[in-house]
Amino acid sequence: MRIDVVSIFPEYFGPLEMSLLGKARGAGILDIRTHDLRHWTHDRHRTVDDTPYGGGAGMVMKPEPWGEALDELASDAPEHAPAAPVIIFPSPAGELFTQATARELAREPRLIFGCGRYEGIDERVFAHAATLGRVRLISLGDYVLNGGEVAVMAMIEAIGRLIPGVVGNPASLVEESHEDGLLEYPSYTKPASWRGREVPPILLSGNHAAIDAWRREQRVERTRERRPDLLAGDR
Ligand code: ADE
Repeated sequence: MRIDVVSIFPEYFGPLEMSLLGKARGAGILDIRTHDLRHWTHDRHRTVDDTPYGGGAGMVMKPEPWGEALDELASDAPEHAPAAPVIIFPSPAGELFTQATARELAREPRLIFGCGRYEGIDERVFAHAATLGRVRLISLGDYVLNGGEVAVMAMIEAIGRLIPGVVGNPASLVEESHEDGLLEYPSYTKPASWRGREVPPILLSGNHAAIDAWRREQRVERTRERRPDLLAGDR
């Protein structure tokens, strides 16, 4: 999968060189390229923002650098992914990012992320982007971050780990929280007794059918307690 990220803080994405995603990049499974939006400015101050039409607090990102950045990146289609990319703008005003979103996007050969800052990006940029690819505005959750970078880091990690070959043991992807709408069951390791706290005896029984049933109950119970919205199908 090829992923391009445009940001005024490309250094934010340094940690993507670590751990499983870093290894996947080294192995050629993931081709992640970060770009500084200011590369597509032409004035001495490398200006990316201006005051909002109609007044109001804060600054808005100018359309011109975004237009040039997206034109260049969208036209640089890798051989294995000649189709139009999915162009994602993280935004608290977007659709909610869920495990289902991550699964959908993990099937795409080509993603472009555009990280907004300040009060957002000039609205016309989204309409222009829609001529270059399939645009999605996506929110990490119902809270406001200072910019899209942290949201994009989270999305790339959630998407990247679903790509075949990134996580060493694919079975570990099947049983985790949100894969089938439930939270994960509790996990324990040795020692069986620690500071007076015991591992649930059923896990030491060797009875795999009983263990599976217990884990399922734990998942439902936890979900009912912590995330009743998931059971109600609200999300
Ligand atoms: N940018 C600012 N807040 C955000 C959020 N909650 N999700 C995605 N991008 C954002």
